[in-house]
Parts: sequence; C-alpha cells; structure tokens
Amino acid sequence: MFINFWYIAAQSGEVKFGSERPLKVMMLGHHFALWRDGKGRIHCISDTCSHRGGALADGRIRGDCVECPYHGWTFNGDGACVRLPSLGPNAKIPERTRVDAYPVEEKYGLVWVFLGDLPEAERPPIIDIPEYGHPEWRSIILQADWKIDYKRSIENTIDPAHNEFTHPTHGFLGVRDDYEVKDFTLEDSPWGTGYHNRMFAPTLAQRDMRSASGREKEAWINGGVGHVGPHCTWVQIDASDSMKIHNYLLHTPIHETLDRWYLVATRNNLLDSRYDSTFADRSAYIAGQDQYVLEPLHPKLTPHNNAHEFFVPADKAIARYREYCRDWEGRGWRIDVGKLRADRDTVAYAIPSPARRQHKGWVLPAVPLVSGKAGASAATGRQG
Ligand code: FES
Ligand SMILES: [Fe+2]
Repeated sequence: MFINFWYIAAQSGEVKFGSERPLKVMMLGHHFALWRDGKGRIHCISDTCSHRGGALADGRIRGDCVECPYHGWTFNGDGACVRLPSLGPNAKIPERTRVDAYPVEEKYGLVWVFLGDLPEAERPPIIDIPEYGHPEWRSIILQADWKIDYKRSIENTIDPAHNEFTHPTHGFLGVRDDYEVKDFTLEDSPWGTGYHNRMFAPTLAQRDMRSASGREKEAWINGGVGHVGPHCTWVQIDASDSMKIHNYLLHTPIHETLDRWYLVATRNNLLDSRYDSTFADRSAYIAGQDQYVLEPLHPKLTPHNNAHEFFVPADKAIARYREYCRDWEGRGWRIDVGKLRADRDTVAYAIPSPARRQHKGWVLPAVPLVSGKAGASAATGRQG
C-alpha cells in the first residue's frame, strides 16, 4: 500500500448533506471520518481523536465540524481543534491538538481523498475518464469488496494471457490450436504502463449487445489496458466502432488483504438507461470469473519482484508494474505493512497529511514507511 495517491473513499451519494453523523471509511488500514459542511463541501480527517483516541467518525456533525463522542473535542475540516469543552469557554486551545485533514475532490460521482503529505504541485493526478459525462457515452458505477491484495487485481487487469482461460465469456479455454499471446509493446507514461493489442473474441451472448456490436461471428477485436498509479486501471474494448466499452477499475485498499474496487463502466452504445442493468450484470459476471482465480492466489500479498515466480513474455506488463511500484517505494511512499500489522493493537498511526510539512509535533505518529533506499536501488530510475 502506498501513500501519496488519490484514493476513492466513497461514492458521492454516500456522504449525505445534512447528515447527523460522519461517514466512517477505512483506507490503507486506517479509519477516516468524512462529512459535508453547510456549503456541501466534503471534508476528510483522520478518525483518531488526538485527546485519548476516540473515534471521531462515531461522533456528531456540529455545524461544519465533527465532535468526538468521548469528551466533545470538536474538529473543523482543516483538522484543527476548535472546541475543547473541559478547558471551559475562552480557553486557548493548544495547536498540537490538530488531527490530519486530507485534500478531497469529487469527480466521476466518486469522492477522492489524497492520502499523503505531498504539496499540491507534486501530487500524482486522479486518473482521467474522458468518457464520463460525455454526451455520446453512458456510465455506470459498480463496487465490491474482495479478500485480496489490491495489486493482485491490477496485475490481473493488465495480464493479456488470463482472458483465454479465466473468461470463457471472451476467450476459448485454450481449445484453438493457434492460440498464443502475440508480442505487444509497452507504452510507458509518468504514472504507469499500458499497451494495445488485438484479441480473438467470441460473439456476445446477450442479443441486444450482439446486435449493437454489429458482429455475429467470432472476430479479432481491438483492446487496450494499462494502469495509472499503483491502484487504478483502464480497459478499452473496441469490438467495433459502434460498440466500444471503456472501463476503469479503481481500487482502494481497505487494508493489505481487503480490496474495495469501483468500476466506472462506460459505453458508446445502447445509451438508454434501461440497458444499464444489462451492462452491470455482464460486468459483475465477468468480475466473478476474476474473483474465482484471484482470492486463492498464494501468497496473499503480491510479491515485490518476480524472483519466486516464473515470468514469460506475456507477463511483461506485470513486471513493469512492479518496477513502477519499486520506484514509488524508492521515494519512500510504501507503507511498512509488517510493522503496521505488528503494532495494530499498541500504536495509533495516521497517514501523514500535507499540513505535516508546515506544523511539527503531531500527537499521532505518521504511519511507518519502508525506507526509500531499498526500493531506490532496485528501481529503474524512471521519473514521474
Ligand atoms: S478522546 Fe476525543 S475528546 Fe477525548
Ligand atoms: Fe479478467
């Protein structure tokens, strides 16, 4: 798990205007409190109260602030304690009581939170979804929790060889004598790799989809996949000009072995909303085929390098993804999951927020990170 990326905390509609209580969300193994203020803006702060560890998300929303359920300390959207009742009225509130507050953006119907301390100019971007809201495209959002390390799913999405066997919906289970994964060229960008290739695909089973595709026979179709950051992927399936499906599978690790994914599924055909369930059902069915192979993978945590797996050319995008991860580790962004797990019952950590670059002396220690040097020596010097 990496700090310093934008993660989805919720769908926009889950953070309700006028709610009495914050929404409690776990991301990167930490709890957070989210709420909307009087202007409708969403705030996100670390859930652990700086007093004696109360869970702020279990408290109440008071005006534009959140009140701890234990002794009523009240925090604003910047993480500053603005009321400390036991000191009485007019008391000066010590600066050190502040908790971490994180940048929030609402985009694509999702609430994105920047979990890290980078200043704005240095932050990686939120993945671009140009089809979302476009008049010639229609989008739906699905989500699910899987018992996997989220990186297993990223590697699965960019894996061209699994379609044939994992997905009888768009592969042939290896019965074709001429089956092979043709070589493809990786297209690197600052925050991830990807590639375009062609895939021999069966006809679509669902009648409306088949007629929208204009294709009644098996055929070669154009595809493309890639990742942006350690946790977001894009998939383009261009069955024909009249039938393009561009999906974005976006992951938020709840913790190291529990993945919450959001699928923004976009299409340029069958735009009427009555087809939403057709596409949602097919996406969920295909996702189930992936879940069947991913949840039993061993070991549970994705290896950092391929020393104890046997890679073949079809795995080269996965090898490249791991290089990107080592690069981010080299920058000191990878959470030390072993230490986090070992300390779970004894230490309350916080994901460091941008304000830690301005203020010193925080009550909660920042989450332990893997020392950057280990990754830097293995990294390829890729810049991002
Ligand atoms: S623990 Fe939050 S006010 Fe005491
Ligand atoms: Fe798959």
